[in-house]
Amino acid sequence: MLNKDKVRLVWDGKTNNIQPAAEGIKHQTIEFVNPCQASSYDSIFDLWIQKPDPARREEPNGRIFRADNLQLMNYLINNGYRESFDLIYIDPPYLSSSAYNSTVKIKDTVSDTSDYISRPVFLDHGSEGREEYLDHIYPRLKKMKELLSAKGSLFVHLDWHISHYVKILLDEIFSPYNFINEIVWCYGGGSGTKRHFHRKHDMILWYGKGKEYIFHPQYRPYTAGTLERGLTRVKGDKYQLHQEGALMQDWWTDINKILSPTAAENLKFPTQKPEALLKRIILAASDQGSLVADFYAGSGTMASVSQELGRQWIICDESSIAIQTSLERLIKQGGRPFRIEEINDDVQPPQRQQNYLKIDFSVQVVNENSTLLLLVIEDYEPQESNLTALNEKWNFKNLIDFWEVDLNYDGNIFHSDVQVLRNKKVYDDSIPLSIKLQVPKINEYRIAVKVYDIFGVSTLQVLK
Ligand SMILES: C[S@@+](CC[C@H](N)C(=O)[O-])C[C@H]1O[C@@H](n2cnc3c(N)ncnc32)[C@H](O)[C@@H]1O
Repeated sequence: MLNKDKVRLVWDGKTNNIQPAAEGIKHQTIEFVNPCQASSYDSIFDLWIQKPDPARREEPNGRIFRADNLQLMNYLINNGYRESFDLIYIDPPYLSSSAYNSTVKIKDTVSDTSDYISRPVFLDHGSEGREEYLDHIYPRLKKMKELLSAKGSLFVHLDWHISHYVKILLDEIFSPYNFINEIVWCYGGGSGTKRHFHRKHDMILWYGKGKEYIFHPQYRPYTAGTLERGLTRVKGDKYQLHQEGALMQDWWTDINKILSPTAAENLKFPTQKPEALLKRIILAASDQGSLVADFYAGSGTMASVSQELGRQWIICDESSIAIQTSLERLIKQGGRPFRIEEINDDVQPPQRQQNYLKIDFSVQVVNENSTLLLLVIEDYEPQESNLTALNEKWNFKNLIDFWEVDLNYDGNIFHSDVQVLRNKKVYDDSIPLSIKLQVPKINEYRIAVKVYDIFGVSTLQVLK
């Protein structure tokens, strides 16, 4: 429907000219990941590299982009993705006047002491940055509309700081007639102020591209009172209780924030959203096999739930800590392969490819067909700019977040065949630094090992 509504939000500098894709933007695939987590010190994997397994090169189910999301959306529009997404969920900055960090605890097992390293993830401006915020979000919301399919929906997750301004922008872009719901997500948690009521809800604004948007009703359990009375006594025989429960309203009180530091879901990523929240949105507004996106991915909640629910997905974040958190989360989850890509306008190599990693590599013959490879990481040196943050007593093992192996490196794109993660997220010396891999006997192995450190830096070493 044509948006005949003339009500507009105006601010200095608002422009309707949407920047086209900048010149010189480069797209690069950094990594193919086939989740296969090594579970213990001497796991023996039966991975065959002579004939690359077609499964590991199969079309990935998902794409993680490290990029500014406007550049990515321009790239997608120019590369066949216009009107392709059935669902876009975004959880952008809220104008909350906060610097968000992800803190890791480094444990020294010798002296049994702990240190904390705070890694900046993103900066959210305060109310003085309102115009800048609107300048940021306005062109991006327009691009999202272009990317949505005819049955597609956009969910914009915000709170009291700026949601009312964004609502008016969304009315302008989508038309007020395509506004479907303002979902109010209520949660608990403490707050000390006695100056006003505690602010304990977020708003999720839902717009359809048109009237034919996908919607699968969601249900909640009946209250104890309803179950006890039964509907019939109140409303008469015509009404029955449904097996699925009661139809869900637009206010959700049954999903709490991830508050406990020990919750299994907690990835120590600031602003991380619960999987149950995303699950409800994805189940309601997309189909099996739908393509969905989150252009402010953070810890990758959208990708993780989409992977679980059989959706194809694209996520994007400009922070390397966010990308790394998402990557590790998806490896741990297992499931279909996915890709990591970059869109950027600088020519920096995506990762360090020098001798900052020292690896011992040996080959043992098992029989005439196969050999056993033993890989041991012996040393790792973090990037120079992070050395100042380092405490001399930390061992290099404290700094490695996780590492990956490509059994047949093609010299171009890293294929992550095996991944070694920490059992628990404790940055001490307990990360496994060696694995054995059983592979077919060939003359030359071109193996590459990639280490991700706690600063979000990856380093690649090729072994021959
Ligand atoms: C509120 S967090 C998202 C949290 C996420 N929903 C989760 O469950 O973990 C917002 C994210 O947007 C990212 N971000 C902010 N501006 C961006 C931009 N222009 N392009 C890409 N990512 C951006 C930040 O780095 C941050 O990780």
